Amino acid sequence: MTIITPLSPAPKTYRVKSFGCQMNVYDGDRMGELLTQQGLSAAPEGADADLVVLNTCHIREKAVDRVYSDIGRLKREDGSTPLIAVAGCVAQAEGEEIMTRAPSVTMVVGPQAYHRLPDMLAKARNGERVTDTDMPAATKFDVLPKARKSGTSTFLTVQEGCDKFCTYCVVPYARGAVISRPFKDLAEEARRLVEAGAREITLLGQNVNAWTGENAKGQTVGLEALIRDLATIPDLARIRYTTSHPNDMTQGLIDAHGEVDKLMPYLHLPVQSGSDRILRAMNRSHTVESYLAILDRVRAVRPDIAISGDFIVGFPGESEEDFAETLRVVDQVGYAAAFTFKYSPRPGTPAAAMGDQVSIAVMEERLKRLQALMTEKQLAFNATSVGKITQVLIEKRGRHAGQWLGKSPWLQSVHFEGDVAIGDLVTVELVQAGPNSLAGRLIG
Ligand code: 5AD
Ligand code: SF4
Repeated sequence: MTIITPLSPAPKTYRVKSFGCQMNVYDGDRMGELLTQQGLSAAPEGADADLVVLNTCHIREKAVDRVYSDIGRLKREDGSTPLIAVAGCVAQAEGEEIMTRAPSVTMVVGPQAYHRLPDMLAKARNGERVTDTDMPAATKFDVLPKARKSGTSTFLTVQEGCDKFCTYCVVPYARGAVISRPFKDLAEEARRLVEAGAREITLLGQNVNAWTGENAKGQTVGLEALIRDLATIPDLARIRYTTSHPNDMTQGLIDAHGEVDKLMPYLHLPVQSGSDRILRAMNRSHTVESYLAILDRVRAVRPDIAISGDFIVGFPGESEEDFAETLRVVDQVGYAAAFTFKYSPRPGTPAAAMGDQVSIAVMEERLKRLQALMTEKQLAFNATSVGKITQVLIEKRGRHAGQWLGKSPWLQSVHFEGDVAIGDLVTVELVQAGPNSLAGRLIG
C-alpha cells in the first residue's frame, strides 16, 4: 500500500541500527552496502543521518514498544525527523500497522524484501510511504550487490527461516520457511570476504545445521561439506557456525569437528529446558537424553569442545521440579557460555495461548538462579583454560593503551598486551580467568 505525503529531501547519509540476532547484523551490513551502492554514505559516529534504518528484532518482550520509542527518539530538536525505515522482524510482524501508528516512518520492509530498498527509497524521495513485507520467491541474495567489505571476523548467512515451530517462537512466522543458499554462491561469497580481509567466518542460520546444498558433482550435501570446502581457502583461519538444532546434528557434521582443523572447537546447541515434559510442550522434538547423547558424540571426536546453549525459564506450566531439571542439565554439561531468557509470550504462537503462564516474579527468580549457576560454570570452564598456550585472533584494541582484544578457539575473549595488529593470529598463554574473559601473555 502506498500513501502520498509531502516531498522529503534526497538522503545523503544513512545509519543502520541492528537489534537482536547475528542474522540481523548480517542483514544490516548488507542493507548498508546496498545504500552505499545507491550513493549514500554511512553517517559518522554521533552525527545525524538523513536516513535511519531500524533493523528490528521480534523474538522477545516489548520489541514492538521499543521500536515505537526508538522512532520517537529520532525526532530532532527542530521537530524534523530523518527518513525512517523500519526493517527486520517487527516490520514483518506489524507491517502496515507501523505506518498507522508512526507517521514519521516512510518505509517498512521485511527481512526477505530489503533488497528492494533502492526502489522504496526512490518512491520515498517522491514523498510516498511504502510497505513491503513480501516473502518473494526470488531470494534477496540473488540481487544484493556482490562487493563485500569485511572485518577480521565476519558473518555469512547460509540459511534462513525455520520450520521447527517451537511453540514459543516467532521465527517461523517472521522469517518464513527454510531456505538454503546455494553451495556455489556461498563458496564464492566466502572467498570474496576473505579477499576483503576476513580471517574468520561464522556461518549463520536460524537452523544452520539444516543447511543443504548441491556440490559440484550435483550431490546433495550437508553443512559439513560447505565447511570442508571453506577450509581449503588458504587465508581463512577459522570457521564457526550458529545456531543449531539438536535434531539436525548429523554424524557428518560431528565428524567434521574431529577432522577439520579450521572448524573451531565450539558448538552452540540450544536445549531450552532440562525437563522432557516442557520440551514436549515446546515442540522441541528432542529429549534431554537425546541432547546429552549428541554432546557425548561431539566430545568423543573433539574432547576440548566448548558448549554453549540457549535457555528459556518460565515456559507455561514450568514447575519448580521442571526448573530444577534445567539446573541439573546445566550442571552436568558444564557450559562455556549461554543465553538465558525469561519466557515471553509472542502474539500468534501456540504457547501464548497456553494456560498456566508463570508469573513474572517466579520467572525473574528462576532466571537469577540459572544465571548464577551459569556464571559459576563459565568461570569453571575458563579456569580450565589457564595455562594453555593457544592461538588468539585479534579483533580490536582494548580499553587500555597497548591492550588488544581477541578470541580464543573456544570463543573466549582474551586481552593481552604486545606489538600486534588487528587480524593477526598470535600465540598467547592464557594466564588468568574471569567469568567473561581471560588475561593472556603474548608469546614470541
Ligand atoms: N521467549 C523467550 N525466549 C525466546 N527465544 C525464542 N523465542 C522466545 C520467547 N518467546 C529464545 C530461545 C532461542 C533464542 C534465539 O531466543 O532460547 O533459542
Ligand atoms: Fe524458533 Fe525453534 Fe526454529 Fe529455533 S528451532 S528458530 S527456537 S522455531
